[in-house]
Amino acid sequence: MYTTAIITLSDKGSRGERVDVSGQRIRELLPEDKYQVVSYTLLPDDRAQIEAELIRLADEERVDLILTTGGTGFSPRDVTPEATYAVMDRNAPGIAEALRAYSMTVTKRAMLSRAASVLRGKTLIINLPGSPKAVSEELGYLLGTMEHGLDILLGRDSECAGHDHHHHHHHGEGAHK
Ligand code: MTE
Repeated sequence: MYTTAIITLSDKGSRGERVDVSGQRIRELLPEDKYQVVSYTLLPDDRAQIEAELIRLADEERVDLILTTGGTGFSPRDVTPEATYAVMDRNAPGIAEALRAYSMTVTKRAMLSRAASVLRGKTLIINLPGSPKAVSEELGYLLGTMEHGLDILLGRDSECAGHDHHHHHHHGEGAHK
């Protein structure tokens, strides 16, 4: 099981002016047998508040995974990546790069996502875009490979060999040798 926190960043959502579909979508898409959602927070696009919540979840709650949604675009209020970088110990840019690359196959507007993926201690923090559609698309692509990364981060798995089933399945590389 991975203890997981979901944070939705939305000024309107935090004022109760918009229902948080994206945060709930994340919760629905995480398989219940693998992910224990221990925290769900709705915050305004305020860098100090976001940083404080990320630090609390990583250092005090010690969750394995934090998934954020929203605040990754070009609006002057969008500061989720900045808050995420501010609390990181180690960058893990490949996840954000892969999500952007995959999302570019869906919409060219994916290049407008500034999302980050980082490690703080033994917590993996991943920014997802704000729309429910984007959340669904990216999470489905991400989960299997992310779990392998989490297993290594948490010391549940020490080697990378022979785990890339999803990739082989999709592209057929090495599948019929
Ligand atoms: N990624 C996927 N897979 N699907 C999408 O519809 N929308 C993009 C992008 N990433 C999108 C996507 C758009 S329109 C923007 S502006 C950026 O994510 C940033 O979104 P955010 O500001 O809501 O975080």
